[in-house]
Amino acid sequence: MNDGGPAGELQAGGFDLSRIRTIDGVDVRGKRVLIRVDFNVPIEQGKVADDTRIKRVLPTISKLARAGAIVIVLSHLGRPKGVINPETSLKPIAAKMQELMPGTNVRFIGDCIGEEVKRGLAALKPGDVAVLENLRFYPGEETNHPVFAKQLAAHGDIYVNDAFSSAHRANASIDAIAGLLPSYAGLLMMAEIMALGEALEQPERPVMAIVGGAKVSTKIEVLTNLAARVDRLVVGGGMANTFLKAKGMEIGRSFCEPDFTDTAKDIMAHAEQAGCEIVLPSDVVVATELKAGADSQICPVEAVPADAMILDVGPETLADLKRRVAEVKTVLWNGPLGAIETPPFGEGTFALAREVARLTREGKLISVAGGGDTVRALNEAHAAADFTYVSTAGGAFLEWLGGKELPGVVALTRSSAR
Ligand code: 3PG
Ligand code: MG
Repeated sequence: MNDGGPAGELQAGGFDLSRIRTIDGVDVRGKRVLIRVDFNVPIEQGKVADDTRIKRVLPTISKLARAGAIVIVLSHLGRPKGVINPETSLKPIAAKMQELMPGTNVRFIGDCIGEEVKRGLAALKPGDVAVLENLRFYPGEETNHPVFAKQLAAHGDIYVNDAFSSAHRANASIDAIAGLLPSYAGLLMMAEIMALGEALEQPERPVMAIVGGAKVSTKIEVLTNLAARVDRLVVGGGMANTFLKAKGMEIGRSFCEPDFTDTAKDIMAHAEQAGCEIVLPSDVVVATELKAGADSQICPVEAVPADAMILDVGPETLADLKRRVAEVKTVLWNGPLGAIETPPFGEGTFALAREVARLTREGKLISVAGGGDTVRALNEAHAAADFTYVSTAGGAFLEWLGGKELPGVVALTRSSAR
C-alpha cells in the first residue's frame, strides 16, 4: 500500500500539516476502510432535519467507494451516555445517505462492535457503504477506552478521520483508534484545517473577529486568544452586555454574567496592550419581553430603560459594523449579535451577514464562519453560499479559535509519525 501524500509544508492552526497523511494516492481497492465522520445532525420526527454535515463528507465517502473500498462509517449522534437509546439511532442517517448516494449500496448495521457487525460486513462488496450504529451507545467511546478502540479497529484495514467537527473530543474512534491502524485525514478534515489555518495563521490583514452568543464564561479563551491575534474584535450578543456592564453602564434586565465583569475588563486590557480594538454596540434594540413580535425600541447603550432587555444591535451600531467590515481584509465569525431565534431580533445579525457575503462575493473580503447558531443565521440570511468558508464545526471551531490543540488532529500527526 502506498503511504499517501504528505499534505505539504503548510503550518495551519498550530499543526504541522506535513505530518498528516491524506487519502490521496492510497490504494484502497478491496480494503475495509473505517471512516470516522460527524453525523451529529439534528433529527426531527425520526428524520434528518439538516443534512449539511452529511453532504460535506460525501466526497470522501464516494471517493473511497469509487476506488473499490468497503467503506465502514463510524459516528456518534447526540449524547446517549453509554447506553442504547433508539432516539439517537443512526438509522435515519443511513436512510438519508442512501437517498444522497442513489447508485451506491448503503447498509445500516444495528451495532458498532461484535458479531452483528462481523456478519453485516461479510455481506458487503467493494464499493458498498456500511453505516454502523451510534458509537456512544458504548461508554468506551467517550472514555477513549483502548479495548473499545481495538474492537472498532478490528473491522478495518485502514482508518480515515473526516470528522473535524468532533476533533476536540479525545474519544476512542478519534484518538485511541488512530494508534491501531494506518491513519489518514479525509478530504473535509483537510479542507477545514487548511481554511481555518489560513484565516488565522497567515491572514490577510487587517483581521476582524466577530464573537457573539450569550456567555463570556464559555468563550474566555477564545476572546483572549483572538485579542492577541486580530486587529479588531467585535463583541456581540448577550456577552456584549457583560462588557457594557464592566464599563459601568446600566443594562436594565438584559442577560448578563455579573461574575464575569472582571474577566471582561481583563480581556479589554489585554486587547489594548496587544493593539486590538474591541468594538461594542453603541445603540441597541430593547424590549421588555423576549417574544416573537414583542414591542421594541431603539436606544443608546447609555440609556437602556431599567425594565428593558437588550436583544439586538441598533441601526447606528449596524452601520458602524458595515463600515468596519469594509475596512478589513479578513472576517472570522462565531456567534450571533442578537436573539436570532426570536423575530425580529435576528435582523442585525442577518443584515451584517448579508454585507459580509456581498463584500466576499465582490472579492474584497475573506470570510470564515463556524458554529451551529452562526451557520443557522447565515442560512436564514441566505448569506452562507457567499462566505469564503463555512466550517461544519461548532465546539471544535471555538476551541481552535481559542488556540487549543485538537486531539483528533494531534492523533493523526502522531499516527503518521509511527
Ligand atoms: C458537535 O456537534 O459539536 C460534535 O459532534 C461534538 O458533539 P458533542 O459536543 O456532543 O461532543
Ligand atoms: Mg455540540
